[in-house]
Amino acid sequence: MKPKRSSEVEALRAELRRHEHLYYVLDQPEISDAEYDALMNQLKVLEAKHPELATPDSPTQRVGGKPREGFVKVEHSSRMLSLDNALSEDELRAFDARVRDLLGGAAMRYVAELKLDGLSMAAHYRDGVFVQAVTRGDGRVGEEVTENARTIRSLPLSVPSAKAPFEVRGETVMNRRAFELLNASRDAQSLSRFANPRNAAAGSLRVLDPAITASRRLDFYAYFLLEEGRPKFATQWESLEALAAMGFKVNPQRKLCKSLEELLEFCASWEGKREQLPYEIDGVVVKVDSVAQQEQLGYTAKAPRWAIAYKYAARQAVTIVEDILVQVGRTGALTPVAALKPVEVGGVTVSRATLHNEDEIDRLGLRIGDSVVIERSGDVIPKVVRVHTQGSPRRRFHMPKRCPVCGGKIVREEGEAATRCININCPARLKESILHFSARPVMNIDGLGDALVEQLVDKKLVSSVADLYDLTVDQLAGLERMGKLSAANLVKNIDKSRQNPLPRVLHSLGIRFVGERTATFLAEAFGELDRIAAASPNELQLAEEVGPKVAQSVYDFFHEESNQKLVERLRSAGLQFTYKVKRKAGGPLAGLTFVLTGTLPGLTREDAKARIEAASGKVASAVSRKTSYVVAGEDAGSKLDKARTLDVPVIDEARLLEMLDGGR
Ligand code: IVH
Repeated sequence: MKPKRSSEVEALRAELRRHEHLYYVLDQPEISDAEYDALMNQLKVLEAKHPELATPDSPTQRVGGKPREGFVKVEHSSRMLSLDNALSEDELRAFDARVRDLLGGAAMRYVAELKLDGLSMAAHYRDGVFVQAVTRGDGRVGEEVTENARTIRSLPLSVPSAKAPFEVRGETVMNRRAFELLNASRDAQSLSRFANPRNAAAGSLRVLDPAITASRRLDFYAYFLLEEGRPKFATQWESLEALAAMGFKVNPQRKLCKSLEELLEFCASWEGKREQLPYEIDGVVVKVDSVAQQEQLGYTAKAPRWAIAYKYAARQAVTIVEDILVQVGRTGALTPVAALKPVEVGGVTVSRATLHNEDEIDRLGLRIGDSVVIERSGDVIPKVVRVHTQGSPRRRFHMPKRCPVCGGKIVREEGEAATRCININCPARLKESILHFSARPVMNIDGLGDALVEQLVDKKLVSSVADLYDLTVDQLAGLERMGKLSAANLVKNIDKSRQNPLPRVLHSLGIRFVGERTATFLAEAFGELDRIAAASPNELQLAEEVGPKVAQSVYDFFHEESNQKLVERLRSAGLQFTYKVKRKAGGPLAGLTFVLTGTLPGLTREDAKARIEAASGKVASAVSRKTSYVVAGEDAGSKLDKARTLDVPVIDEARLLEMLDGGR
């Protein structure tokens, strides 16, 4: 029976892969969504019945696996550099002149590619199967995002034709439509909007929970094909063609240019048409086609000499500031916002622009009635760049002396740009705090929308987020548009949120600079809320990515009496104040095999081996496809080369120590 089942499963997978490629890569579906879903269901049923047939490259694996506990750093096979910019036609001409000069006038060609505005990522394949994805990070070391990347439909999970290990680098982006849908759904849940598709893509890829990435519909456009960290083909153009043939999504809007004139023409023509594209671009990437010539040109400290980013100017428009309004945020910050005469900028009608704070208004010399230049650089909230012409009449704006919502006192602390309402019970602050507290990535309380929060605060049922835990079905059922059933559901959801782990509780407190990521690092480093609250700013900096600014903010938060009261009330409400990092059976390195090579700066070979083994890891003497990591020190030799050939991640001693510490 098994062989038949196994071929049936493989045939179904092949069929699904074909349709995924047609739909997500080529944009030419042959079957309806419903037919696709039906095929997928068949496969899911078969795999559930025959778990022994499941494979990581099956199309069913794109749903997003289990959330992870932390972020793992991985060294790139070769530097992922960034590009120098050419901000005008003249600068592009100068780049061309320099290239031709350095090549001694030899014949050459450029590849022009659109510069998609996303974040770059490296995807690694072994034996034709996708095995690892890493973000660019600082170019040398990035963050492992394998399970998240697996959910990107246009990233092939298997490339059966390619046997040797290879790496594909490209851009992870969110197209405009997915971005708009995401922000609309965040509005509906009273979550803060993403400022632009780039931030949305980054925020969707670099999350601990792959299910979030899966729900965000990211896209991956390939632009480099590497083997052992080096281009596989002699020209960039061939690489792009090969990538497309392998099933990757390669932007069809590309051109092999024989002259600077052709290049300029390509750049100019897409500048005019950029709004018609389904994704945001911020320019054109120009690369010397021949890899031999690329090598001849070499690199500066931070960028290749053989490529440049020709950047388009930001999209601007001129309109009138009809009024300046003041909004009150969660931290009490009063933000002046320009109410504009509606104007179209790059296909979007704009009627508001942020002015950040009073200093910014002074810096601009702006008065109500002036006409201004506004700019959208992919951002949804546009900003005022400068005054265009002074209005007549024009009226000076004054920051209100009292909070426009509660009438309470406002202060502007020394060295701070923001003016704040200091009444912690200010309804505007409270409403924003409750919305933040209940948001999906925070305490995830379904059913607490804008309108309801408004009523809870206005009717004085809630005057602190801790009051949420005392709400009863009877209290809620009396509110507008609230039946007994939804009231009961909400109480249940609030109750359920008591089980949220410590990182979410920390995030919920609304400490400045402490988002999901920092909260996770703090919880991992200290294990208990009370230890975080008692830590000095110096101690707080022991947590990953926590610098002086964040540490001070955390310290200040826990030393403020009203916050201490809130924390005690949340403790009484039964929230989780301790955190256990879940691990596989055994120590932090269980299931991992290491190979040591070269001289490590602080550990002897024996020490390193003993410590890895004490943490349940294995140490092998030779590098193979089964090796999880090669730990390389000074004078690492052939094992390092072998690791690169087999695409095995290479780490240094510092990273090993982190992993021994539990930072897998
Ligand atoms: S090549 C060494 N090609 O732009 C070459 N980058 O400003 C590095 N980008 O970090 C990148 N589209 O995030 C390249 N077709 C393309 C690109 C592209 C977008 C981004 C990428 C890179 C940044 C450089």
